[in-house]
Amino acid sequence: MKIVVIGGTGLIGSKLVTKLRAGGHDVLPASPNTGVNTITREGLAEALHGANVVVDVANAPLWEDKAVLEFFETSGRNLLAAEAAAGVRHHVALSVVGTERLLEGGYFRGKMAQEKLIEESGMPYTILRATQFFEFVSGIAQSGTVGQEVHLSPALIQPISSDDVAAALADLAVAKPINGMVEVAGPEALPLDELVRRFLRITKDSRKVVPDVNARYFGIRLNDQSLTPGKNPRIGSARFEDWLSQSIA
Ligand SMILES: NC(=O)c1ccc[n+]([C@@H]2O[C@H](COP(=O)([O-])OP(=O)(O)OC[C@H]3O[C@@H](n4cnc5c(N)ncnc54)[C@H](OP(=O)(O)O)[C@@H]3O)[C@@H](O)[C@H]2O)c1
Repeated sequence: MKIVVIGGTGLIGSKLVTKLRAGGHDVLPASPNTGVNTITREGLAEALHGANVVVDVANAPLWEDKAVLEFFETSGRNLLAAEAAAGVRHHVALSVVGTERLLEGGYFRGKMAQEKLIEESGMPYTILRATQFFEFVSGIAQSGTVGQEVHLSPALIQPISSDDVAAALADLAVAKPINGMVEVAGPEALPLDELVRRFLRITKDSRKVVPDVNARYFGIRLNDQSLTPGKNPRIGSARFEDWLSQSIA
């Protein structure tokens, strides 16, 4: 089966390409670095020629509100049109758990637009919504930092390893389209301030975490439902502290 991975050079994309190739598939990593651009359409029709499945794990290069919305809208439109022209039979995309609860943030309005284009395209599809990647925890710490303190909401978060996300995507890419959404999350839900406290302790970072119910997450007010999955998500096996200790080693 020919599978094109849009964003196949990124964090999730490169792991997904490796997993799908190990399963014996003909996999094409497609991104600006390999000559395929979903915004300019450069190389897109050629890349999709003969493809059965497309997995979209591209990310916007700029996260400013207008730029991110334009990226996901333009990329989604161009990609879905090129897939229809090439006779692709399954579009798989990666989105974020809780997207519809996080629309105060421009990034999530971009992800919502991406999901909507897929749902309305008529293309058979599967959307995987994942919680925050372990790799993203350092960025969350940075976003709440004021001097030597990190101000964070104690709302629940259930982060996941990027390997577990790539594994879930690899399964979905070779299965039948479900024309709906699946969620995947890590094995443990814990308060966001506590997660970052553990991260700082293990990385020997002297910043102090200050819990603050009014602290915003990239401009968004949180509650315990904002970032956590609904009923029956797929659950990844890797635990945050094990992953972090191994990454440091
Ligand atoms: N971070 C999280 O915690 C989290 C949680 C849930 C879901 N997600 C979703 O996961 C997805 C993948 O994230 P990631 O961290 O793996 O991203 P990443 O490492 O930043 O990689 C982004 C990929 O997008 C490609 N790309 C950028 N512009 C493109 C264009 N015009 N045409 C085609 N490809 C383009 C990049 O290609 P080049 O290398 O060639 O520039 C790269 O391969 C995102 O959609 C994100 O919303 C993230």
